[in-house]
Amino acid sequence: MINLSINNQRVSVQPGTTVLEAARKLNINIPTLCNHPDLCVAGNCRVCVVEQTGARTLIAACAMPVAEGMDIQTNTLKVRNARKHIVELLLSEHRSDCTKCYKNQKCELQALANEFAFGDTIFLDLTEDHPYTIDRSSPAFTKDDSKCIRCQRCVRTCFELQHISAIAVANKGLHQKISSFHDRPMSHVVCTNCGQCVNRCPTGALVEKTYIDQVWDAIYDPDRHVVVQTAPAVRVALGEDLGYDPGERVTGKMVTALRQLGFDSVLDTDFSADLTIMEEGTELLTRLKKVLVDGDKKTSIPMFTSCSPGWIKFIEHKYPEFLPNLSTCKSPQQMFGALAKTYFAQKKKLDPSKLVSVSVMPCTAKKYEADRPEMRASGYKDIDYVLTTRELAVMIKQAGIDFKNLESSHYDSIMGDSTGAAVIFGATGGVMEAALRTAYEIVTGKEVPFTNLNITPVRGMEGVKEATIKIEGCKPEWKFLEGAELKVAIAHGLVNANKIMKQVRNGKSPYHFIEIMACPGGCIGGGGQPIPTSMEIRKNRMKAIYSEDEHMVLRKSHENPDVIGIYKEFLGKPNSHVSHELLHTHYVERESY
Ligand code: SF4
Ligand code: SF4
Ligand code: SF4
Ligand code: FES
Repeated sequence: MINLSINNQRVSVQPGTTVLEAARKLNINIPTLCNHPDLCVAGNCRVCVVEQTGARTLIAACAMPVAEGMDIQTNTLKVRNARKHIVELLLSEHRSDCTKCYKNQKCELQALANEFAFGDTIFLDLTEDHPYTIDRSSPAFTKDDSKCIRCQRCVRTCFELQHISAIAVANKGLHQKISSFHDRPMSHVVCTNCGQCVNRCPTGALVEKTYIDQVWDAIYDPDRHVVVQTAPAVRVALGEDLGYDPGERVTGKMVTALRQLGFDSVLDTDFSADLTIMEEGTELLTRLKKVLVDGDKKTSIPMFTSCSPGWIKFIEHKYPEFLPNLSTCKSPQQMFGALAKTYFAQKKKLDPSKLVSVSVMPCTAKKYEADRPEMRASGYKDIDYVLTTRELAVMIKQAGIDFKNLESSHYDSIMGDSTGAAVIFGATGGVMEAALRTAYEIVTGKEVPFTNLNITPVRGMEGVKEATIKIEGCKPEWKFLEGAELKVAIAHGLVNANKIMKQVRNGKSPYHFIEIMACPGGCIGGGGQPIPTSMEIRKNRMKAIYSEDEHMVLRKSHENPDVIGIYKEFLGKPNSHVSHELLHTHYVERESY
């Protein structure tokens, strides 16, 4: 252990710990901007400077490892003046129209300005002569150069966590900016719209494209019936923006709040997550039969999941030769939307042209997915507006709802019933676990051989996980699978997806079925989830997801009564003609700029 003193308090920490981390252990706050717990140290903003006894210059706490006997002061006059100058310099190049900014009151730069740089400044205002661009081309987020402090959190996120590098630092000095390939609009580069950069940007330079006003307009329009669906991961994170600690489940209160906001039908994406398992599980078993029994060379194995729109765009750009391996299933959001405008409208005697379909998602890429031209097989757009978890929290605050004191309530029927299998879609490994719970039972007539249905090898935060399930005791129609070892893999975060895809491309992948989610931790760590994020926060959300599963009466997708009902009344059977028309899709090869 290394012993040091910070503000005259002694602390012992592991070698390799930074001064910033040691200070946090003592609950001493050192401000930061470029630093983020998920990313490597950049050390470029210098806001975290502290004074070290005996050192000639101030040191950056986030970049300096501790040393035995160090004596650190975090709040001397020299330190405060240095931080004040740094913040003032940033503001001199910053279009500080806070009251009109989406990040107002949620901005790390604004918080520092409030702390250090109030009153007159000695620096010139350089914003007038400073050209800037606001790129609104992405359906998922807006990129505003005039709000950028060049901390490079976004660049590191896109490279380190997502292995994409859709953005990079261009130019030097005053002209330095975050740019895309040849400064193309973000809609025309390899960006997956995952929003991980948005989630880590400390200012209003990267913010989600918001549809709050459009949703209010729809709600207030008496001629419209507004249906809302909420994704599994929203219920374990929404609370963070409404005064709860990470990992609090607020499902029932959220449902009540949605009703109070004025949505006409409050339904659950978990219903269509269960449906996805029926469709995707059947597709997997059909593919396995074609390959193992019929020797069909045209059928592609491993099959990849297709729930994560950021992952879909990634494979379309980076590994297009493997598009036939992607399940043809739409994501649960899109399946839900297609059924809202058909089955739901018919059952409730509603005119689908007057039905507005809104989804609340942990994900900014869902905004992009909803706009894909393929997503309107019913003759109407499956989803009209996608709100992130953060946007829903804003609406709840705008409506003056006392969220903490709300009574809990249940989703409406139909398309409101769900199972624990659907809830775990929200965490990495969840789709795989849900699929295995159902597929194993379809094939053998027995439950998966794991205590309490918890398939623990596919759970957890490891970047790439794998598991082998031996199939024994098959029903007669599935005898060809008797004794087979089903090999599965799971990756979350596109940097890990890339590792799996390299293996597949090299012909060294032993897997039959692979789940990939674009975001770290899966949807619980989505780009539209509350800010901040960190491994600890994501782990708490994950615990809440599994706890929600354990609390459900039904925990297998094929037991969902609404799913059983829709096959009986509308779809026929999984992978039927109607299913293919409404619930399945196709993909497109894209260039890799
Ligand atoms: S980015 Fe922050 S400091 Fe800049 S205008 Fe927006 S709220 Fe204000
Ligand atoms: S866009 Fe945001 S995260 Fe990226 S450099 Fe600018 S301020 Fe930092
Ligand atoms: S949205 Fe994702 S892919 Fe696009 S620039 Fe940001 S981190 Fe990179
Ligand atoms: S937070 Fe330490 S240098 Fe930026």
